[in-house]
Amino acid sequence: MQYNNLLDRATEVLTMNDRGSYTQPAHGLYPHQWLWDSCFAAIGIRNINIARAQTELLSLLRGQWHNGMFPNIIFRSDSQYRTDRNIWRSWLNPFAPSNVTTTGITQPPVLAEAVVKIGEKLDWPERRTWYRSMWPALLAYHEWLYHERDPHKEGLTLQIHPWETGLDNTPPWINEMHMHQLPFWITAVKATHFDMVINLFRRDTHSVPIDQRFSTIEALTLFDMQRRLRRKSYEINKILDHSLLTIEDLSFNYILVRANTHLRQIAKSLHEALPKELLTSMKRTEKALEELYDDYTKQYYSRDFITHRLLKIPTVATLLPLYAGSISKERAAILVKYLEDEQMFGSAYPAPSVPINSDWFHPKLYWQGPTWVNINWLIIDGLKRYGYHEHAAALTESTLEMVAKSGFYEYFDPLNGEGAGAANFSWTAALVIDLLS
Ligand code: GLC
Repeated sequence: MQYNNLLDRATEVLTMNDRGSYTQPAHGLYPHQWLWDSCFAAIGIRNINIARAQTELLSLLRGQWHNGMFPNIIFRSDSQYRTDRNIWRSWLNPFAPSNVTTTGITQPPVLAEAVVKIGEKLDWPERRTWYRSMWPALLAYHEWLYHERDPHKEGLTLQIHPWETGLDNTPPWINEMHMHQLPFWITAVKATHFDMVINLFRRDTHSVPIDQRFSTIEALTLFDMQRRLRRKSYEINKILDHSLLTIEDLSFNYILVRANTHLRQIAKSLHEALPKELLTSMKRTEKALEELYDDYTKQYYSRDFITHRLLKIPTVATLLPLYAGSISKERAAILVKYLEDEQMFGSAYPAPSVPINSDWFHPKLYWQGPTWVNINWLIIDGLKRYGYHEHAAALTESTLEMVAKSGFYEYFDPLNGEGAGAANFSWTAALVIDLLS
């Protein structure tokens, strides 16, 4: 199929959201700099303006904490966003940077992927300089991930809030939240239907229909969880002492495996030796991930950090081990079957964020059904590396067709390809550019 103007239209969206040194995900709804959004933006922008793509990643460095963490959001300093900054109060933690305000949590580590993808477009001397400029920050980030988020040295990193997975309201997390995290005051709001009143004050539902976002009860619970983290000043020991919700998330950890592979490659190019302890942890991860496989249902799942119980609610994270590249060919073949299966992920416009046959499935509800372009990009990359070129081409085609007919939406109905969520969304535009290239 010919995609007339798609490249030009995608470029326009990126220009519209360009804030000089970084790209905001969408005007109005997402005005700040988000971590994995900037990485996906850079992956697309590298095809049209390599220097701008580099700036996109370099601008993330200003938000890095002194302990190595990259926060999921760096807030704008305009006075109209005082409330956003105040909700988080990153200044409560001594490791937070002093010249910008951020959140106190991270997002999936796709940074190494973006660094390498930009590197692929540069000749050797330029690539070396580029890698050098990102190396200390990248190394510190991966060391932080293990040091702070793998306290028992199991090989899997734990996440402390669903927003850290990037799949904000993904069912396994929401289910755990409902079971264990509803404080009495939210239960009271639920019982009295006061959530209808609170709905009126939500910023996200001003620009997006409410049935495409999480419920107000869920939103309140997410904010309550965030407040509890803030009360612990985002210090992991205090968080673990108070047994707040901690999950070894499937998608986060599989993305980490791929990031580790890239980190090794960058280190090799720079003739840098990775610290021994980090290398040991990285090796442990690939093995530990196999513990997330359930033989009976033949799927991978996220796991509760404390009890090691698998959270057996299938989501699109099931397919991300393909992207990691660490699983056997046999297991990859099983995942490809799920992608083909019309009852699971083989919808008209795949890959739905929750399988079609799940009780959780809702075609337009955020991470509980819709198709997302960034997830497709990761799956396509994995399919290619496992040799499934036809599947990769088919998923590329359906993704481009969906965006061409509906526009650069945040997410899409997997049954008919209709756009939903924010319009003119940056990573949709950026990754379309990358898929077209
Ligand atoms: C939503 C998404 C998250 C993304 C953010 C900004 O919260 O769930 O993954 O980073 O929007 O686009």
